[in-house]
Order: sequence, then C-alpha cells, then structure tokens
Amino acid sequence: MHLTLRQLKVFEAVARHSSYTRAAEELHLTQPAVSMQIKQLEESAGLPLFEKLGKKIYLTPAGQEMHHYCRAIAQQLEEVDRVMEEMKGMKRGRLVIAVASTANYFAPRLLATFSQRYPRITISLDVTNREGLLGHLDANDTDMVVMGRPPEGLDLVAEPFTENPLVVIAPPDHPLANAERIPLEWLQQETFVVRERGSGTRTAMERFFAEKGIRLSTGMEMSSNEAIKQAVQAGLGLGIVSIHTLELELETRRLAVLDVESFPILRHWYVVHRQGKRLSPVAQLFKDFVVKEARGLLEVPGIV
Ligand code: PGA
Repeated sequence: MHLTLRQLKVFEAVARHSSYTRAAEELHLTQPAVSMQIKQLEESAGLPLFEKLGKKIYLTPAGQEMHHYCRAIAQQLEEVDRVMEEMKGMKRGRLVIAVASTANYFAPRLLATFSQRYPRITISLDVTNREGLLGHLDANDTDMVVMGRPPEGLDLVAEPFTENPLVVIAPPDHPLANAERIPLEWLQQETFVVRERGSGTRTAMERFFAEKGIRLSTGMEMSSNEAIKQAVQAGLGLGIVSIHTLELELETRRLAVLDVESFPILRHWYVVHRQGKRLSPVAQLFKDFVVKEARGLLEVPGIV
C-alpha cells in the first residue's frame, strides 16, 4: 500500500470534522484538493473510507481502522519531534566512554552524578588499561576516554581535570611504614609487585625511576590494582599505585603509604578524544561536566 503522510493528515482532519469543507479550511486547501487526497488514499487502501448518508459523512469500518492507525502514527511523529528536541537540548542520547582501570575507582561516582542529572542518557563504559585506551582512540569507537596524559605526537585533544598522585604502598607492619623522608635509594633494597606492561601506572613508574637513576627489583607482575594491593598486604613486596585506588585500605589501615623522598609521583587525569572529532551534544555535555565538576566531586583520599 502506498500512502503518504500528507494523505493521512488530510484524512485525519476530515474524520475529525466529519466534513471535507471544514478540513479544507483548517488545512488551507481547496475542497477539491481534499477530495483528491482522500480519493487517492482510498485507492491505495482498496476500500472506501467514508460514506455519505444524506448530507453527513461517516467513517466506514475500513475508515475507522485507518483512523486508529492514523492517530498512532501522529503520536509517533510527535514523539520523534520531542526526541529530536531533547537531543538538541542534550537531555537524551547515548554516551560511549572508556576509562583506565585505575580511573574506574572514581568513574562510577562521576557517572552516577551525571546519570542522575540526565536520566535519559544511556551510558556504555569500557574499563581497560592505557594501551587499551590508545586502541579505542585509534579505532575512534568511543566518544572519549579518561586516561593519564596521552603520548605526544598523536592527534589528540586532552584536557586535565584532576590530580592522580602515585604512591608507594607497604603492609602496615613493614619496617619502613613509620619512617619519615625515606631516601629514594633505599627502595633498591626492596622488591616491587608491578602492574602489567601497557598500564599507565607502570609506564609512569618506570619513567620516574629511570629519570632518578634508580634500578628497582621487580617481582611479580599483575594486571589489576586490586591484585597488587592484595599481594602487598600478603607481604609479596611493595607496590606503586594511584592514591585513588586506596580509599578503603587506608580507612581500614590494611595498607600504609610510605613517606618516600620525591613521592608522590604527580600525574593528572585527562579526558581525551581525537582532534577534529565531532562530539555529539551528549558527549560535549559529559566532557564539560568532567572538566568543570569532576574535581569537586572526587575527594582524593588523604595520605595517612
Ligand atoms: P592504568 O592507568 O595504570 O590503569 O593503565 C592509566 C594511567 O594512569 O594512565
């Protein structure tokens, strides 16, 4: 069946007024133009939609069915209109982001606030390490990512939004746990449990010690901050992690942050996307939210 929205609009007006003349007035059409539209609609339906009894016109059973669907279609069209308006007003849409495994200690808090404010924005979140995030940027398959400073030389836009201090952790009964201003060189006597290659924490740590001319002895390698913290608690070595990962362990005093000279390693979190990327209104909204508000929403735990 071939019918047009215009025919349906005319049909709806005729049905509502039970009159070709009044429908024509409302739609600013001539009466023959209205009759023509109805005739074409009846032809494509293959059934009469109106019947004339005396001077009045009535919907036939087929006309009543047509009227029912016509109203449903009109409602859907109104809804499309509203959704488009909302999307323009940025209150609705889909946000696809990826965050560093370490950032995932605070990302859910940010997303919760954002989502309460804009409940009709759906969010898809991938959690991966720095290397995985660079892969996302390369594939351009997310709106943006949250990571440590991206490498120079890639065509990226990166805006910092809060600090990311890296600290040395030890079990609370470690001999250095209460020492002050521990010289950096002393760390050479210790074994470290480290994050996997491809992790931003690992890269930053290696760069820091290389610059200071310190050679660390690394023991086990683990692909999550949780595993590192467990291993350090179990006495397998010291660890270097972001302070963001430690809220619970510092509160319950299951781990201690060592007071080592030149620490913490000061890093920042960035919201990053490809240069020239056309951010959707929702993505732009999220970016502004992170850059303006994230810092206030995230309490970096104090070093105890
Ligand atoms: P990551 O953190 O160690 O979880 O990869 C990312 C970063 O610090 O850049």
